[in-house]
Amino acid sequence: MIICETIADVRQKISEFKRKGKRIGFVPTMGNLHEGHLSLISASKEECDITIVSVFVNPTQFSSGEGFEKYPRTLESDQEKLKDLKIDILFLPDENQMYGSSSQTLVLVGGTISNSLEGCSRPEHFNGVTLIVTKLFNIIAPDVAFFGQKDAQQARIIYQFVKDLSIQVVLKVLPIVRESDGLAMSSRNTLLSKENRAIAPSMYEGMLEGAKAIRDGETDPMQVLAIITEHLICFKEIEIDYVAIIDPVTFEEVEEINKDVLIIGAIFLDNIRLIDNYYVDRN
Ligand code: PAF
Repeated sequence: MIICETIADVRQKISEFKRKGKRIGFVPTMGNLHEGHLSLISASKEECDITIVSVFVNPTQFSSGEGFEKYPRTLESDQEKLKDLKIDILFLPDENQMYGSSSQTLVLVGGTISNSLEGCSRPEHFNGVTLIVTKLFNIIAPDVAFFGQKDAQQARIIYQFVKDLSIQVVLKVLPIVRESDGLAMSSRNTLLSKENRAIAPSMYEGMLEGAKAIRDGETDPMQVLAIITEHLICFKEIEIDYVAIIDPVTFEEVEEINKDVLIIGAIFLDNIRLIDNYYVDRN
C-alpha cells in the first residue's frame, strides 16, 4: 500500500497507473473505518484494477458545535485494515493540502435535494461535502467512485453535481451495512453510551414497521409516519430530528404512497446524531 500525503504525490502515482491503462476505483472516507466502508472497498477491488482510499476528516462539512473535534480519529487501526485489504493507495492529506489558506470557492447544489432534511438540520453540511468531493474527484480522477446508501441525500447530491458539472466518473451507491441488531453502521455509533447503543436500532425498527404498513396497503404517509414515531417515542432518550417519506429521486415528501418511496430519518441520542433510511419497493 502506497501512502500519499500530498496532492502532487498522489497525482503522480495515479498517472503511472493510468498510463498502464488501469481502471481506478476510489472510496472517499473520513476514516474510523467500519464494515460499511469495507464493503465499498471490496466492491472497488472487485470492479477496478486499482483501489484508492482517502482518509480526511473534512472540517467544512461540520458547523461549529457539530463535533468536528469529537469525530473519532483512528488512523493506526484504519491503516491496518487497509493494508489487510490490500488497497493500492491511501491518500492522507492534511487540512493545508486540501484547503490552503485562501480557499474561496463553493460548489452549491440547489433545490429540494439540498434544502430539505439534512440540508435543513445541518445548513452548512452539504456545501462542505460538495466542495471536498469535487476536489477529491479533480485530484484522483477516478473511473468509479463508491458511496454508501446510509448517506442517501449525500449520494443524491453528489450524483446531481457530477451530472451538472460533467465530471467523468461512474458513481456506485452500495446498500447500508447493518449491525446484527439492525443499527446502520456509522463512525458515530462508537460515541454512544452502552444504554443508548442498546436503543439506537429503534429507528430502523420503526422504519421496518412503517415499511410493513406500506406493503400491507397503507397509502397515507401521515399514517405511516405515525406508526414510526409511535415506536420512537417509547424511548424518552430519543429526540426525533425528522422522519419523512420521500420520493427517492426528487427528495420531495410524498402526498400519497403510490410508487417506490424512501423512508428517511435522523434522531439524536444524547447529542449524537444518527441517520438511517429504508427503501420501500412497491412492486
Ligand atoms: O461520507 C463521508 O464519509 C464524507 O461525507 C465524505 C464523502 C468522505 C466527504 O468528506
